[in-house]
Amino acid sequence: MKRIAINTGGGDAPGLNAVIHGAVYAALANGWEILGVRDGFEGLLETHSYPDGGLVRLNRESVRNISHLGGTILGTTNRGNPLTYPVKQADGSTREVDRSEELIGKFRAAEIDALIAVGGDGTLGIADHLSRKGMKIIGVPKTIDNDLQATVVTFGFDSAVSFATECLDRLHATARSHQRIMVVEVMGRYAGWIAIHTGIASRAHVILIPEIPFDIQKVAEHLIQKTLPQEKYAIVVVAEGAKPVGGQRLLKTGADSGRVERLGGIGELVAEQLHERTGRDTRAVVLGHLLRGGSPTSLDRLLALNFGAAAVRGLAEGKTGVMVALNPPNIEYVPLEAAISRQKLVPMDGNAVKTARALDICFGG
Ligand code: F6P
Repeated sequence: MKRIAINTGGGDAPGLNAVIHGAVYAALANGWEILGVRDGFEGLLETHSYPDGGLVRLNRESVRNISHLGGTILGTTNRGNPLTYPVKQADGSTREVDRSEELIGKFRAAEIDALIAVGGDGTLGIADHLSRKGMKIIGVPKTIDNDLQATVVTFGFDSAVSFATECLDRLHATARSHQRIMVVEVMGRYAGWIAIHTGIASRAHVILIPEIPFDIQKVAEHLIQKTLPQEKYAIVVVAEGAKPVGGQRLLKTGADSGRVERLGGIGELVAEQLHERTGRDTRAVVLGHLLRGGSPTSLDRLLALNFGAAAVRGLAEGKTGVMVALNPPNIEYVPLEAAISRQKLVPMDGNAVKTARALDICFGG
Protein backbone atom coordinates (compact mmCIF):
# COMPACT_ATOMS: atom_id res chain seq x y z
CA MET A 1 0.00 0.00 0.00
CA LYS A 2 1.43 3.38 -1.00
CA ARG A 3 -1.36 5.81 -1.59
CA ILE A 4 -4.84 5.85 -0.07
CA ALA A 5 -7.83 8.21 -0.19
CA ILE A 6 -10.50 9.27 2.26
CA ASN A 7 -13.92 10.76 1.57
CA THR A 8 -16.87 11.95 3.64
CA GLY A 9 -20.39 11.39 2.27
CA GLY A 10 -24.02 12.07 3.13
CA GLY A 11 -25.19 14.45 5.86
CA ASP A 12 -22.36 15.81 7.99
CA ALA A 13 -21.94 14.82 11.64
CA PRO A 14 -19.72 16.19 14.43
CA GLY A 15 -16.51 14.13 14.39
CA LEU A 16 -15.88 13.92 10.62
CA ASN A 17 -12.80 16.11 10.87
CA ALA A 18 -11.51 14.02 13.77
CA VAL A 19 -11.76 10.85 11.62
CA ILE A 20 -9.80 12.61 8.87
CA HIS A 21 -7.21 13.75 11.42
CA GLY A 22 -6.82 10.22 12.84
CA ALA A 23 -6.57 8.61 9.41
CA VAL A 24 -4.05 11.14 8.08
CA TYR A 25 -1.69 10.80 11.04
CA ALA A 26 -1.93 7.00 10.95
CA ALA A 27 -1.38 6.81 7.17
CA LEU A 28 1.63 9.14 7.26
CA ALA A 29 3.10 7.10 10.13
CA ASN A 30 2.95 4.07 7.81
CA GLY A 31 4.82 6.01 5.16
CA TRP A 32 1.76 6.21 2.88
CA GLU A 33 0.39 9.16 0.96
CA ILE A 34 -3.20 10.13 1.72
CA LEU A 35 -5.54 12.18 -0.43
CA GLY A 36 -8.99 13.58 0.33
CA VAL A 37 -11.79 13.31 -2.22
CA ARG A 38 -13.80 16.50 -2.35
CA ASP A 39 -17.56 16.50 -1.73
CA GLY A 40 -18.24 12.79 -1.26
CA PHE A 41 -17.56 11.10 -4.61
CA GLU A 42 -18.26 14.28 -6.61
CA GLY A 43 -14.59 15.30 -6.67
CA LEU A 44 -13.86 12.29 -8.87
CA LEU A 45 -17.13 12.13 -10.80
CA GLU A 46 -17.14 15.82 -11.74
CA THR A 47 -13.35 16.38 -11.80
CA HIS A 48 -13.67 19.20 -14.35
CA SER A 49 -15.59 21.36 -11.84
CA TYR A 50 -12.70 21.32 -9.35
CA PRO A 51 -9.59 23.50 -9.88
CA ASP A 52 -7.53 20.93 -7.92
CA GLY A 53 -8.98 17.97 -9.83
CA GLY A 54 -11.25 16.98 -6.97
CA LEU A 55 -8.46 15.38 -4.91
CA VAL A 56 -6.46 17.13 -2.24
CA ARG A 57 -3.18 15.90 -0.79
CA LEU A 58 -3.44 15.71 3.01
CA ASN A 59 -0.54 16.18 5.40
CA ARG A 60 -0.10 17.01 9.07
CA GLU A 61 -0.38 20.71 8.32
CA SER A 62 -3.73 20.33 6.54
CA VAL A 63 -5.34 18.49 9.46
CA ARG A 64 -3.74 20.31 12.37
CA ASN A 65 -6.36 21.81 14.71
CA ILE A 66 -9.39 20.38 12.94
CA SER A 67 -10.48 17.48 15.17
CA HIS A 68 -12.57 19.73 17.42
CA LEU A 69 -14.37 21.42 14.51
CA GLY A 70 -17.82 20.51 13.18
CA GLY A 71 -18.47 19.90 9.46
CA THR A 72 -15.88 18.32 7.16
CA ILE A 73 -12.86 19.96 5.55
CA LEU A 74 -13.39 17.72 2.51
CA GLY A 75 -16.99 18.74 1.90
CA THR A 76 -19.85 16.33 1.44
CA THR A 77 -23.03 15.96 -0.51
CA ASN A 78 -26.03 13.69 -0.74
CA ARG A 79 -26.48 14.78 -4.33
CA GLY A 80 -25.59 12.17 -6.89
CA ASN A 81 -25.21 8.59 -5.66
CA PRO A 82 -22.68 7.15 -8.19
CA LEU A 83 -24.86 4.04 -8.59
CA THR A 84 -27.92 6.05 -9.60
CA TYR A 85 -26.28 9.26 -10.78
CA PRO A 86 -28.72 11.81 -12.22
CA VAL A 87 -27.65 12.80 -15.75
CA LYS A 88 -29.50 15.52 -17.66
CA GLN A 89 -30.73 14.45 -21.09
CA ALA A 90 -30.92 16.59 -24.24
CA ASP A 91 -34.73 16.83 -23.86
CA GLY A 92 -34.37 18.28 -20.33
CA SER A 93 -35.35 15.07 -18.53
CA THR A 94 -33.05 13.27 -16.05
CA ARG A 95 -31.85 9.69 -16.36
CA GLU A 96 -30.18 7.67 -13.60
CA VAL A 97 -26.85 6.15 -14.63
CA ASP A 98 -24.56 3.69 -12.81
CA ARG A 99 -21.16 5.43 -12.78
CA SER A 100 -19.43 2.99 -10.41
CA GLU A 101 -17.08 1.52 -13.07
CA GLU A 102 -16.08 5.01 -14.13
CA LEU A 103 -15.46 5.93 -10.49
CA ILE A 104 -13.25 2.88 -9.91
CA GLY A 105 -11.36 3.86 -13.08
CA LYS A 106 -10.78 7.35 -11.67
CA PHE A 107 -9.37 5.91 -8.42
CA ARG A 108 -7.08 3.65 -10.47
CA ALA A 109 -5.96 6.51 -12.72
CA ALA A 110 -5.03 8.49 -9.60
CA GLU A 111 -3.04 5.41 -8.43
CA ILE A 112 -5.07 5.13 -5.25
CA ASP A 113 -4.72 1.69 -3.66
CA ALA A 114 -7.57 1.90 -1.16
CA LEU A 115 -10.35 4.17 0.11
CA ILE A 116 -11.58 5.01 3.59
CA ALA A 117 -15.27 5.85 3.08
CA VAL A 118 -16.79 7.77 5.99
CA GLY A 119 -20.56 7.90 5.91
CA GLY A 120 -23.98 6.58 6.79
CA ASP A 121 -26.02 3.85 5.12
CA GLY A 122 -25.93 5.58 1.70
CA THR A 123 -22.14 6.01 1.53
CA LEU A 124 -21.47 2.61 3.10
CA GLY A 125 -23.86 1.00 0.60
CA ILE A 126 -21.85 2.54 -2.23
CA ALA A 127 -18.63 1.38 -0.52
CA ASP A 128 -20.00 -2.17 -0.31
CA HIS A 129 -20.84 -2.09 -4.03
CA LEU A 130 -17.38 -0.77 -4.99
CA SER A 131 -15.66 -3.35 -2.79
CA ARG A 132 -17.60 -6.16 -4.50
CA LYS A 133 -16.23 -4.80 -7.77
CA GLY A 134 -12.69 -5.24 -6.46
CA MET A 135 -11.85 -1.91 -4.84
CA LYS A 136 -10.10 -2.02 -1.47
CA ILE A 137 -12.36 -0.17 0.96
CA ILE A 138 -12.86 0.28 4.68
CA GLY A 139 -15.96 2.09 5.94
CA VAL A 140 -16.32 4.32 8.98
CA PRO A 141 -19.85 4.60 10.46
CA LYS A 142 -21.18 8.14 10.75
CA THR A 143 -24.64 9.44 11.53
CA ILE A 144 -26.13 11.55 14.27
CA ASP A 145 -29.19 9.26 14.01
CA ASN A 146 -27.22 6.24 15.38
CA ASP A 147 -29.28 3.91 13.19
CA LEU A 148 -26.44 1.83 11.72
CA GLN A 149 -26.25 -1.84 12.65
CA ALA A 150 -23.14 -3.68 13.80
CA THR A 151 -21.65 -0.87 15.87
CA VAL A 152 -22.77 0.00 19.38
CA VAL A 153 -22.76 3.65 18.43
CA THR A 154 -21.91 5.92 15.49
CA PHE A 155 -19.88 9.08 16.00
CA GLY A 156 -21.95 12.27 15.94
CA PHE A 157 -24.74 10.79 18.03
CA ASP A 158 -23.39 11.85 21.41
CA SER A 159 -22.82 15.43 20.18
CA ALA A 160 -26.37 15.63 18.83
CA VAL A 161 -27.88 14.29 22.06
CA SER A 162 -25.73 16.56 24.24
CA PHE A 163 -26.74 19.66 22.31
CA ALA A 164 -30.43 18.66 22.15
CA THR A 165 -30.41 18.05 25.92
CA GLU A 166 -29.03 21.53 26.51
CA CYS A 167 -31.78 22.96 24.26
CA LEU A 168 -34.46 21.04 26.13
CA ASP A 169 -33.16 22.27 29.48
CA ARG A 170 -33.65 25.81 28.16
CA LEU A 171 -37.11 24.99 26.83
CA HIS A 172 -38.16 23.57 30.21
CA ALA A 173 -37.45 27.00 31.73
CA THR A 174 -39.49 29.00 29.23
CA ALA A 175 -42.32 26.43 29.03
CA ARG A 176 -42.60 26.35 32.84
CA SER A 177 -42.66 30.16 33.06
CA HIS A 178 -45.50 30.43 30.51
CA GLN A 179 -47.26 27.21 31.52
CA ARG A 180 -47.09 26.06 27.90
CA ILE A 181 -46.81 22.80 26.05
CA MET A 182 -43.54 22.90 24.11
CA VAL A 183 -43.16 20.40 21.26
CA VAL A 184 -39.58 19.85 20.10
CA GLU A 185 -38.86 18.11 16.77
CA VAL A 186 -35.45 16.43 16.52
CA MET A 187 -33.79 14.48 13.69
CA GLY A 188 -34.32 10.75 13.47
CA ARG A 189 -35.51 9.56 10.09
CA TYR A 190 -36.12 5.86 10.78
CA ALA A 191 -35.03 5.49 14.40
CA GLY A 192 -35.85 7.47 17.52
CA TRP A 193 -32.45 7.23 19.24
CA ILE A 194 -31.91 10.99 19.48
CA ALA A 195 -35.48 11.62 20.67
CA ILE A 196 -35.49 8.92 23.34
CA HIS A 197 -32.01 9.62 24.74
CA THR A 198 -32.60 13.37 24.77
CA GLY A 199 -36.10 12.96 26.16
CA ILE A 200 -34.93 10.81 29.05
CA ALA A 201 -31.86 12.93 29.81
CA SER A 202 -33.91 16.12 29.94
CA ARG A 203 -36.96 14.53 31.62
CA ALA A 204 -39.44 15.25 28.86
CA HIS A 205 -43.05 14.22 29.54
CA VAL A 206 -43.78 12.68 26.14
CA ILE A 207 -41.45 11.09 23.55
CA LEU A 208 -42.74 10.17 20.09
CA ILE A 209 -40.48 7.91 18.01
CA PRO A 210 -40.83 6.16 14.62
CA GLU A 211 -40.76 2.72 16.29
CA ILE A 212 -43.97 3.37 18.28
CA PRO A 213 -46.81 4.84 16.19
CA PHE A 214 -48.65 7.26 18.46
CA ASP A 215 -52.29 8.01 19.25
CA ILE A 216 -52.57 11.77 19.76
CA GLN A 217 -55.63 11.28 21.97
CA LYS A 218 -53.57 9.12 24.35
CA VAL A 219 -50.86 11.78 24.43
CA ALA A 220 -53.43 14.51 25.21
CA GLU A 221 -55.00 12.40 27.97
CA HIS A 222 -51.60 11.76 29.54
CA LEU A 223 -50.93 15.50 29.59
CA ILE A 224 -54.39 16.43 30.90
CA GLN A 225 -54.54 13.73 33.58
CA LYS A 226 -50.94 13.47 34.72
CA THR A 227 -48.46 16.08 33.52
CA LEU A 228 -50.39 19.36 33.49
CA PRO A 229 -52.08 19.05 36.92
CA GLN A 230 -48.68 18.41 38.54
CA GLU A 231 -46.23 20.39 36.44
CA LYS A 232 -48.48 23.04 34.82
CA TYR A 233 -46.40 22.77 31.62
CA ALA A 234 -45.17 19.98 29.34
CA ILE A 235 -42.26 19.06 27.10
CA VAL A 236 -42.96 16.76 24.15
CA VAL A 237 -40.03 15.44 22.07
CA VAL A 238 -40.89 14.22 18.57
CA ALA A 239 -38.53 12.46 16.14
CA GLU A 240 -38.99 13.77 12.59
CA GLY A 241 -39.89 10.23 11.46
CA ALA A 242 -42.61 9.68 14.10
CA LYS A 243 -46.04 8.83 12.72
CA PRO A 244 -49.56 8.38 14.06
CA VAL A 245 -51.13 4.92 14.33
CA GLY A 246 -52.23 3.96 10.81
CA GLY A 247 -50.61 7.10 9.34
CA GLN A 248 -47.48 8.02 7.43
CA ARG A 249 -44.33 10.02 8.16
CA LEU A 250 -44.66 13.68 7.15
CA LEU A 251 -42.63 14.55 4.05
CA LYS A 252 -41.36 17.97 3.01
CA THR A 253 -40.31 16.66 -0.39
CA GLY A 254 -40.51 13.19 -1.94
CA ALA A 255 -37.57 11.08 -3.12
CA ASP A 256 -36.18 12.00 -6.53
CA SER A 257 -33.07 11.31 -8.61
CA GLY A 258 -31.42 9.02 -6.10
CA ARG A 259 -32.03 11.38 -3.17
CA VAL A 260 -33.96 10.26 -0.12
CA GLU A 261 -37.11 12.16 0.78
CA ARG A 262 -36.93 15.09 3.21
CA LEU A 263 -38.95 14.79 6.39
CA GLY A 264 -40.38 17.59 8.50
CA GLY A 265 -43.52 19.12 9.96
CA ILE A 266 -44.55 16.51 12.51
CA GLY A 267 -43.64 18.79 15.46
CA GLU A 268 -45.90 21.56 14.19
CA LEU A 269 -48.76 19.12 13.56
CA VAL A 270 -48.48 17.52 17.02
CA ALA A 271 -48.42 21.00 18.60
CA GLU A 272 -51.64 22.00 16.76
CA GLN A 273 -53.39 18.77 17.69
CA LEU A 274 -52.38 19.06 21.36
CA HIS A 275 -53.58 22.67 21.44
CA GLU A 276 -56.98 21.57 20.07
CA ARG A 277 -57.28 18.75 22.60
CA THR A 278 -55.91 20.44 25.74
CA GLY A 279 -56.80 24.08 25.07
CA ARG A 280 -53.29 24.99 26.27
CA ASP A 281 -50.95 27.51 24.73
CA THR A 282 -48.60 25.39 22.60
CA ARG A 283 -45.39 26.10 20.67
CA ALA A 284 -43.30 23.99 18.29
CA VAL A 285 -39.51 24.21 17.93
CA VAL A 286 -37.49 22.36 15.27
CA LEU A 287 -33.87 21.64 16.26
CA GLY A 288 -33.06 20.09 12.85
CA HIS A 289 -29.61 20.85 11.47
CA LEU A 290 -28.52 22.58 14.69
CA LEU A 291 -27.92 19.00 15.89
CA ARG A 292 -25.54 18.31 13.01
CA GLY A 293 -23.33 21.40 13.31
CA GLY A 294 -21.08 22.34 16.19
CA SER A 295 -18.07 20.76 17.82
CA PRO A 296 -17.99 17.06 18.58
CA THR A 297 -18.15 16.17 22.28
CA SER A 298 -14.98 14.65 23.74
CA LEU A 299 -16.62 11.21 23.46
CA ASP A 300 -17.28 11.69 19.72
CA ARG A 301 -13.82 13.16 19.17
CA LEU A 302 -12.17 10.14 20.75
CA LEU A 303 -14.40 7.69 18.92
CA ALA A 304 -13.76 9.43 15.59
CA LEU A 305 -9.98 9.67 16.09
CA ASN A 306 -9.95 5.98 17.06
CA PHE A 307 -12.07 5.06 14.02
CA GLY A 308 -9.77 7.00 11.64
CA ALA A 309 -6.63 5.35 13.01
CA ALA A 310 -8.32 1.91 13.10
CA ALA A 311 -9.38 2.22 9.44
CA VAL A 312 -5.73 2.71 8.45
CA ARG A 313 -4.67 -0.21 10.68
CA GLY A 314 -7.27 -2.40 8.99
CA LEU A 315 -5.95 -1.50 5.53
CA ALA A 316 -2.40 -2.22 6.67
CA GLU A 317 -3.60 -5.67 7.82
CA GLY A 318 -5.09 -6.30 4.37
CA LYS A 319 -8.75 -5.89 5.37
CA THR A 320 -11.30 -4.73 2.82
CA GLY A 321 -15.10 -4.70 2.43
CA VAL A 322 -15.41 -4.06 6.16
CA MET A 323 -16.41 -1.25 8.48
CA VAL A 324 -14.76 -0.24 11.74
CA ALA A 325 -17.24 -0.74 14.58
CA LEU A 326 -17.31 -0.06 18.30
CA ASN A 327 -17.82 -3.12 20.45
CA PRO A 328 -16.61 -1.77 23.81
CA PRO A 329 -13.87 -1.73 24.78
CA ASN A 330 -12.65 -2.77 21.32
CA ILE A 331 -12.87 -1.46 17.80
CA GLU A 332 -13.62 -4.35 15.48
CA TYR A 333 -14.03 -4.87 11.74
CA VAL A 334 -17.43 -6.07 10.54
CA PRO A 335 -18.58 -6.78 6.96
CA LEU A 336 -20.01 -3.64 5.35
CA GLU A 337 -23.09 -5.66 4.52
CA ALA A 338 -23.81 -6.24 8.22
CA ALA A 339 -23.99 -2.50 8.81
CA ILE A 340 -26.29 -1.61 5.94
CA SER A 341 -28.64 -4.59 5.66
CA ARG A 342 -31.27 -2.88 7.84
CA GLN A 343 -31.60 0.06 10.23
CA LYS A 344 -30.79 -0.27 13.93
CA LEU A 345 -34.07 0.69 15.60
CA VAL A 346 -34.75 1.43 19.26
CA PRO A 347 -35.60 -2.00 20.74
CA MET A 348 -38.86 -2.23 22.65
CA ASP A 349 -37.25 -4.39 25.35
CA GLY A 350 -34.10 -2.22 25.65
CA ASN A 351 -32.98 0.00 28.51
CA ALA A 352 -34.12 3.27 26.98
CA VAL A 353 -37.76 2.22 26.58
CA LYS A 354 -37.80 0.52 29.99
CA THR A 355 -36.31 3.57 31.72
CA ALA A 356 -38.67 5.96 29.95
CA ARG A 357 -41.68 3.88 31.03
CA ALA A 358 -40.35 3.74 34.61
CA LEU A 359 -40.10 7.54 34.56
CA ASP A 360 -43.74 7.71 33.44
CA ILE A 361 -42.82 9.20 30.06
CA CYS A 362 -45.64 8.70 27.55
CA PHE A 363 -44.98 7.22 24.07
CA GLY A 364 -48.57 7.68 22.93
CA GLY A 365 -48.82 4.04 21.96
O1 F6P B 1 -29.26 11.03 8.33
C1 F6P B 1 -29.09 12.07 9.20
C2 F6P B 1 -30.14 13.11 9.06
O2 F6P B 1 -29.76 13.94 10.09
C3 F6P B 1 -31.60 12.66 9.16
O3 F6P B 1 -32.08 12.55 10.46
C4 F6P B 1 -32.31 13.75 8.41
O4 F6P B 1 -33.55 13.30 7.92
C5 F6P B 1 -31.35 14.04 7.32
O5 F6P B 1 -30.07 13.83 7.85
C6 F6P B 1 -31.49 15.43 6.72
O6 F6P B 1 -30.44 15.64 5.85
P1 F6P B 1 -30.37 16.80 4.74
O7 F6P B 1 -31.21 17.93 5.18
O8 F6P B 1 -28.92 17.13 4.69
O9 F6P B 1 -30.85 16.18 3.49
